[in-house]
Amino acid sequence: MSGFAPHIVFLLVLVSVSLSPSVRCLGKERTLGMIKPDGVSGNYTEEIKRIIVDSGFSIVNERLTQLDKETASAFYEEHSSRSFFPDLVSYMTSGPVLAMVLEKRDAVSDWRGLIGPTDAQKAKISHPHSIRALCGKDSQRNCVHGSDSISSAEREIKFFFEDVVSDDIASQHDEL
Ligand SMILES: *[C@@H]1O[C@H](CO)[C@@H](O)[C@H](O)[C@H]1NC(C)=O
Repeated sequence: MSGFAPHIVFLLVLVSVSLSPSVRCLGKERTLGMIKPDGVSGNYTEEIKRIIVDSGFSIVNERLTQLDKETASAFYEEHSSRSFFPDLVSYMTSGPVLAMVLEKRDAVSDWRGLIGPTDAQKAKISHPHSIRALCGKDSQRNCVHGSDSISSAEREIKFFFEDVVSDDIASQHDEL
């Protein structure tokens, strides 16, 4: 029987080598990316989605939706005591937003890197190739949102997609 052992070891090596790409998939992470009202109304959606895909993300779900005062306030509830909160809510309800579930390895930090600093004016100087440098105006009207941690990503994905059965085609017709 011991004569078979090398064959078994060889087989196990073969199996684990052929499995490794799917095992690596387990390292993928999801984050919430959102194109804010000025980005959508400014016709940046297609260009931003091209940048997203070219940067190695998969857009696994998306939803064009109009936030109302109540939903925008709930989304940003951690900022509710800040002086800029009423402005933030009126900006975020000024037109439709496109929420997207973005997936890749290290999606949370890579998406934050791709969108650049919060203040779009600073982004234009320090991160000229970032998305906020492309279409943001200032630190509030900064064109795109990204979850700031893995736990925020989980909360924010649930916020936009908990009712949506994972079906990209159906969700595209979910607007307004
Ligand atoms: C909107 O953007 C697309 C792609 O980025 C471009 O081809 C198109 O000409 C733009 N449309 C308008 C009205 O600016």
